[in-house]
Amino acid sequence: MNIRPVTKDDLEAVGQVAYATGFFGQSAAHYFKDANLFRDIWVRSYIHGPGCCNYLAEQEGKVVGYIVGTCNQQAHVRYLAFNLFPYVLRRWARGEYPYWASSFLHLLRVFRYSRKAAPAQRYPAHLHLNLLPEVRGLGLGRELLQAYLACLKARRLPGVQLSTTRENQAAVALYQKLGFKIFAEYESPLWRPLLGRNVLHLVMVHDLG
Ligand SMILES: CC(C)(COP(=O)(O)OP(=O)(O)OC[C@H]1O[C@@H](n2cnc3c(N)ncnc32)[C@H](O)[C@@H]1OP(=O)(O)O)[C@@H](O)C(=O)NCCC(=O)NCCS
Repeated sequence: MNIRPVTKDDLEAVGQVAYATGFFGQSAAHYFKDANLFRDIWVRSYIHGPGCCNYLAEQEGKVVGYIVGTCNQQAHVRYLAFNLFPYVLRRWARGEYPYWASSFLHLLRVFRYSRKAAPAQRYPAHLHLNLLPEVRGLGLGRELLQAYLACLKARRLPGVQLSTTRENQAAVALYQKLGFKIFAEYESPLWRPLLGRNVLHLVMVHDLG
């Protein structure tokens, strides 16, 4: 297993892992039919935009996991509004997202039940961490997160935040072991159509100063 920084050429491979794990560690195909739209909305901004400290894990040349994020929440939001949104709109107009309509329903729910966050000034970085099922429980998540935190510290960032849920038990345990604390916990109906119940969302933070 090899851990290395993510480059722009890794977008496709990282996008595939994100799609394969985007539903509480299972495939996002459960609720989002368009894999390319999924990649462009949830991964592209970190790899082609103002991302930082992005690492991936490879096994025999195949990407099996990643940690991606931003160090600057404001730059990230600007990128989403002025770069990513027009980019996705252009691709959509060219018919490059054939299954956009069914995926769009989920996007509407994401906007409707928008997530809470910790203050961006204190916690300017945020992250996403996912591994394919076959490489979980081997210490890789811990290794990726440690590499990511070391990179943030080297950049003298004051803090990092992330969003997860009580459903992601392994992830919450890992975050707590590496020093993250729960900043906020709230119930949301975002996943109700798929899980049949509300889910407890967590905002977790780590002070690096
Ligand atoms: C969460 C995830 C990144 C953890 O990575 P991992 O490589 O499987 O975890 P590690 O082997 O590094 O274990 C680190 C710690 O995580 C916790 N952990 C790992 N697997 C666990 C499990 N099945 N149940 C409970 N805790 C678990 C343990 O506290 C473990 O510490 P320990 O080894 O001292 O007991 C990985 O399991 C994953 O990708 N899960 C699915 C997607 C996901 O939930 N992503 C996070 C979204 S917020």
